[in-house]
Amino acid sequence: MHVHPYERAWIVLAFVMLALFGSAVAVSNLAFGIRLPGVETLVAPVGAPSEATASQPWVRELGPGRYEVNLVAQVWSYAPAEIRVPKGAQVTFYLHSRDLVHGFLLEGTNVNMMVVPGRTGKVTHTFQKAGEYKIICNEYCGTGHHFMQGRVIVYEP
Ligand code: CUA
Repeated sequence: MHVHPYERAWIVLAFVMLALFGSAVAVSNLAFGIRLPGVETLVAPVGAPSEATASQPWVRELGPGRYEVNLVAQVWSYAPAEIRVPKGAQVTFYLHSRDLVHGFLLEGTNVNMMVVPGRTGKVTHTFQKAGEYKIICNEYCGTGHHFMQGRVIVYEP
């Protein structure tokens, strides 16, 4: 079968690009641990404390610069509404919803998860810069959706 050299070049290029993108996905997953959010953390995420339930919000310090937050979302607020941690803090959030699907978008970071009723979401973020980070609901949840926000205050230690 005759394939025009020009067409052959495009076929080769297409396969090279496929291999390149495929290996980019494999490297980001295997070497850097980048995964689609929420897939392996839907129910009872690994290492979640038994107190991480929708019944009670809390914030606690695990050790120097390490925090855990049990965050409960409901129409149309987050509890706790304000979280204060020092700059450099590594914070693990356990996310719950008491009613509908809500969002958990941490402004200025790449943290963005759905908060699904009956499931516990888990996400960890290290706050390298001081300032205020809004927690924004980015899943439509009713008439008060656009007012639904919380905040993380990162202070200079
Ligand atoms: Cu909660 Cu939108």
